[in-house]
This record gives sequence, structure tokens and C-alpha cells, in this order.
Amino acid sequence: MPITIAIDGHSSCGKSTMAKDLARQIGYIYIDSGAMYRCCTLFCIEQGLIREDGTVDVEALEPRMGEINVSFRFNPETGRPDAYLNGENVESRIRTMEVSSYVSPVAAIPFVRKAMTAQQQLMGQKGGIVMDGRDIGTAVFPNAEMKVFVTASPEVRAQRRYDELRAKGDDVSFDEILKNLQERDRIDSTREVAPLRQAPDALVLDNSHLTIEEQKQWLLDRFKEKTGE
Ligand code: DC
Repeated sequence: MPITIAIDGHSSCGKSTMAKDLARQIGYIYIDSGAMYRCCTLFCIEQGLIREDGTVDVEALEPRMGEINVSFRFNPETGRPDAYLNGENVESRIRTMEVSSYVSPVAAIPFVRKAMTAQQQLMGQKGGIVMDGRDIGTAVFPNAEMKVFVTASPEVRAQRRYDELRAKGDDVSFDEILKNLQERDRIDSTREVAPLRQAPDALVLDNSHLTIEEQKQWLLDRFKEKTGE
């Protein structure tokens, strides 16, 4: 029987890389729930729903939630799923610093969470899924058979993100990234609805000093333990 795997943790700790790779190895569907909140944020930016002071126009957004349709399609070039907003591939547009800087306030809005959580539960109805995010093991799939909570020090996470964005040619500073991720951690952990929390039954992985290969192996070993495969 295919199981449900929930991978939660702080921003930029490599959750999605390990979740995507595990899904591919075991033939499960991978869903990046953060990408769904990023799509909502891109919608807000493009529709002028972010005010000049950087706050979200919540009243204008609420009646328009039905216009936000997020889906994922496998990209054969990267071997990973791309996010689509209303049928348009937005995978690279949701990964900018601009989206990163507004996503935590957008993801803290209760009706945004309600809508995304409902879509995520629908996607995972039949199991055989690896979903990563902040509240997957606590709020979206509290009965998931396997839960992992991933973390690493803020400096290590900022350095990884910095290297990734610089490699893409983005002109970003290390300090800007570190500040952004500490602020996101703060908002994600202190919001009222479904804050970032370690589920009591989650396996904890601090990957500050692990290579990607070591993490992948760790995760695969835990999966085999859980399923007896
Ligand atoms: O994983 P990420 O950095 O792409 O996520 C972007 C933001 O979305 C993050 O700051 C918090 C929010 N998020 C959330 O609130 N709940 C989730 N399940 C996933 C992401």
C-alpha cells in the first residue's frame, strides 16, 4: 500500500530537493506545497494586490481566490514537476526574491491556507505522495505514515540559497537572503493558523553538515524502515 510522506521544515533547508529525489526513486507523486503559496503570491503581485507599504490587500484578494488555480506538470528536461498558475508555467517566476519577500504574509492569511490545504488534501487522497512544506505533518496530513522535520542553521541555509541564486545569475546579497529567511522563519512559526511546528511523531533531520547524497540516503533508509521494503 502506498503511504503518505510529509516533509516539513524551515525555509531553504533543502526539503524540496530531498523530497523530489525520494519521490522519483520510489515512484511517488511529489507536491511542493510552498510553490502553491508562491503562486498565490505571484497572483497578488501581478494583480496589484500588494499595497505600496508591502501589505496584502486581503479584502480584494478574498473574492478572487477562485481565480487561483495551481497545478503541477512533469518537466522531462529537469525530471521534476513545474508549477502552473492558471495553465501557465510559472516555475521560474515564483522563485524570485520579490515573491520570497511577500510569500510568508500571503501564506499566513487564513482563507489562503484553507484553499491551499483543501487542494493539497485532494492531491494526496490516494497516498503514494511526498509533500513538503511547513504544516504537512501537522495540518494537511496529520495521519501521514511517515513524517520528517528538516532543519539546518540559518547561516548554512542562507549560504545554500545564495549559491543557488548566484548560479542563476541573480544579483543578490548574502545579508539580504539571511534577513529574508530569518523573517520568513519568524512569520511561519508564529502565525495563528497552522504555524511551522515539528509534529510529535516526526523524525528529525538536521542537515547542516550533510551532503545531498547523505540526506538522500538517510531519507530512503527511513522509508524502507517504515514500509519494510
Ligand atoms: O518552501 P518555500 O520556501 O517555497 O515556501 C514558501 C513560503 O510558503 C514559506 O515562507 C511559508 C509558506 N508555506 C506555508 O506556509 N505552508 C506550507 N505548507 C508551505 C509553504
